[in-house]
Amino acid sequence: MTSEYMRRALELAASVLGSTSPNPSVGCVLVREGRVVGEGATQPPGQAHAEVVALRAAGDAARGAVAYVTLEPHAHTGRTPPCTDALIAAGVRAVHAATLDPNPLVAGRGVDALRAAGIEVTVGDGEAESRRLLEGYVKYCATGLPFVVAKFAATLDGKIAASSGDSRWVAGEAARAWAHEFRTRVDAILCGVNNVLLDDPRLTARPGGVAAARQPLRVVADSRGRTPLDAKVLSPGGATLIATTGASPPDWRAAVERAGAEALVLPPDARGRVDLAALLRALGERGVLTLLVEGGGVLHASLFAAGLADKVHAIIAPKIVGGMRYPAVAGTGVARMADAIALHDVEVQRLGDDVAIVGYVAARGDA
Ligand SMILES: NC(=O)c1ccc[n+]([C@@H]2O[C@H](COP(=O)([O-])OP(=O)(O)OC[C@H]3O[C@@H](n4cnc5c(N)ncnc54)[C@H](OP(=O)(O)O)[C@@H]3O)[C@@H](O)[C@H]2O)c1
Repeated sequence: MTSEYMRRALELAASVLGSTSPNPSVGCVLVREGRVVGEGATQPPGQAHAEVVALRAAGDAARGAVAYVTLEPHAHTGRTPPCTDALIAAGVRAVHAATLDPNPLVAGRGVDALRAAGIEVTVGDGEAESRRLLEGYVKYCATGLPFVVAKFAATLDGKIAASSGDSRWVAGEAARAWAHEFRTRVDAILCGVNNVLLDDPRLTARPGGVAAARQPLRVVADSRGRTPLDAKVLSPGGATLIATTGASPPDWRAAVERAGAEALVLPPDARGRVDLAALLRALGERGVLTLLVEGGGVLHASLFAAGLADKVHAIIAPKIVGGMRYPAVAGTGVARMADAIALHDVEVQRLGDDVAIVGYVAARGDA
């Protein structure tokens, strides 16, 4: 059972998801004599970590306090000095860490440093919740690749657009608000070029209709350079990367760069399209911990076929459009139901008249 103070630390960690990458989002609560004397969450890269924010808030009251931290404090000097040193110097009596840091530079060394200084340390209070919250960071530490969430809004018959390509709107207001809120928690959003041509999305995070202060990197998979230079995805409001191949015209790539975006030439896959595995590697190198793939169906088909999706956010709207065009996941599909991609740890949420289904894709070989 997760303790009350660790639950609060997890809430603090969740509140900064998406603003700390490539650092993990961490929360810290300092408790002395049954009273919270300081709390904090990780600040943007280069600024204070959760422990330091909480220690500053507590001041002298940190002496003899117990720290509840959602991740093992780091003992190495990165962009900021070690948090273990700050906890030791402040005279904290005990540290409860939800989980060890999967970063090989930390991995147990933070705990060792605290114990060596005579601080009592436990690990495991709120571990499952913390690792879920940090799923992007955990995968990134293990692989150098972003955690990939495939998202679509589909009708009851699995269509993401009507037969003309019109998709405004598949889902209702509550589901769209939920999706915008989620965009604030990711580092990058990817879509296929057909989506740009048919829908011209801005791909920005606008929770409550207002542009978020920090915007995810906007990424378009566009093998041949079909993104129009006046596309909204190239407009101000966020950084943009167009992932392309050598098949796109060099003039177009230069124009994309003049528009302030990056035109990244990647190797083609077997069908001449942007190699998505190479794109994930490139995004990992840019510190992207979490990538939201917003379709359309042709892009999702490649993503699932290559086994690159970790999680699915499906919004299902109680509507039927019929026809054969614009399935949520295109391609040839599997021949047998037993080969369907099944999700696990599924959560279902009602959003107005729509339903959000969230679940994890089993890693290949898990079945
Ligand atoms: N309801 C929703 O959630 C939702 C979300 C998104 C889109 N939509 C709708 O879906 C429609 C567009 O979807 P779509 O399925 O036709 O196309 P899409 O998935 O948006 O774009 C597919 C195109 O992306 C390019 N691409 C580059 N690398 C790729 C790769 N590795 N794998 C696959 N594609 C790659 C390809 O064009 P090149 O070969 O030229 O590069 C491909 O034809 C629009 O009507 C849009 O409004 C709905």
